[in-house]
Amino acid sequence: FPPEIQLEGGRTYKTDSWMNTPASILSAIPRHLHLQPDHPLSITRQLIESRFPGYAYHNEYFPVVSVYQNFDSLGFPPDHVGRNRTDTYYLNKETVLRTHTSAHQADTFKKNETEGWLISADVYRRDAVDRSHYPVFHQMEGARTWDRKSVEGGGMTLAEKIWADVEKIPKHGIKVEDPNPTIHPERNPLQETHSADEIEAVAAHLKRSLEDVVVAIFSAARLAAANAAKQAGLPSPTTEEEPLKVRWVEAYFPFTSPSWELEVEWQGDWLEVLGSGIVKQDLLNNSGVPDRVGWAFGLGLERIAMLLYSIPDIRLFWSTDPRFLTQFSSTRPIQRFVPFSKYPACVKDVSFWLPTSSSAAGGNTPAGPNQGFHENDIMELAREVCGDVVEDVRLVDEFVHSKTGRKSMCYRTNYRALDRTLTNKEMNEMHAVFCKQLVQKLGVELR
Ligand code: PHE
Repeated sequence: FPPEIQLEGGRTYKTDSWMNTPASILSAIPRHLHLQPDHPLSITRQLIESRFPGYAYHNEYFPVVSVYQNFDSLGFPPDHVGRNRTDTYYLNKETVLRTHTSAHQADTFKKNETEGWLISADVYRRDAVDRSHYPVFHQMEGARTWDRKSVEGGGMTLAEKIWADVEKIPKHGIKVEDPNPTIHPERNPLQETHSADEIEAVAAHLKRSLEDVVVAIFSAARLAAANAAKQAGLPSPTTEEEPLKVRWVEAYFPFTSPSWELEVEWQGDWLEVLGSGIVKQDLLNNSGVPDRVGWAFGLGLERIAMLLYSIPDIRLFWSTDPRFLTQFSSTRPIQRFVPFSKYPACVKDVSFWLPTSSSAAGGNTPAGPNQGFHENDIMELAREVCGDVVEDVRLVDEFVHSKTGRKSMCYRTNYRALDRTLTNKEMNEMHAVFCKQLVQKLGVELR
């Protein structure tokens, strides 16, 4: 890695032994997909923003943040796995590519400009390779707080004021499963400085606001499905379809309590669409707004856009192919994505012995520059060598040799370009380079 890197806007950063961010990841920074007119992520962002009138929208926070912003300001413990170099892209010991938009919570609360705000931005995580995971994706963060002092002398309690605001959120007719109490003393505790009746009101405001978003997205998706059916000359699937199923489940985040996730039923499975909760009072106190109390959420824009448009592969968002881009418009009603023909996949296996000195794959290695082998290293190498041609990488077999104690692993890589058929020759060559780099960079021994 070069000793110094230059990014957009003349920003320069010194690297050190913590640097683990490949150039291919840095090259995503200037793309700003969530701001490209007519890009599906941008349309999805605007659709959600329209459900939060009067909120401030922050869409241009730069992705390079301090370890403090990304983790410490949010109360992540010093040994949290998220801090590992196996999971997070570092430029140097103190500087990372944000792993979530929550990295900007404290700074945005500090501005104390509006009661509600939304942040949309690109986020970066070392992770699996498959059709729903990409090392760069987009999140929207949102928060709404109330100032205790603003109700003083107004003849209304804070809880009453918040309930009045709950009434302003559009009502929906869907059934929401929410079996747990708002507050649970062990699993989902009330914060010391909060009163239960205030938090019941804040939680109601949070849940109603986010249910409204999900209902808006799914009615748009339904409409898109109906339009698609009509165009294909088929009867509309929407009228008698089963109702939308949504449920709240308890969750844990270091920076909210109590916390919840919202799940939506999609193609027979529960799909997690967002995390949320009551903002930790410490965070607000440290941001200079100790009189405020409120909620925050974070959702994945790709996930929502994939549901909205029936986009089958997360790599497509990065496509510059007009066959992809021309299918989306902010002025036309939402239409389902029509995949261009699905090109054949090419599947290859690679088996190897792990280096004897390294710790077991998938184990939690301590944060620090000299970590052992981690599965995410394989994932990243596959992306580095193959770019967006690699669709999926998964462990299909592993065993420990009974005599030598060495560990063997077999990974299956699925190659498929989104826009053309790959030739056997180019795939064999690419796979050979991948195998060679596994040896050179990770020190494995091919079997
Ligand atoms: N930042 C969390 C994540 O990426 C989501 C979240 C945001 C949860 C805000 C609670 C409040 O998973």
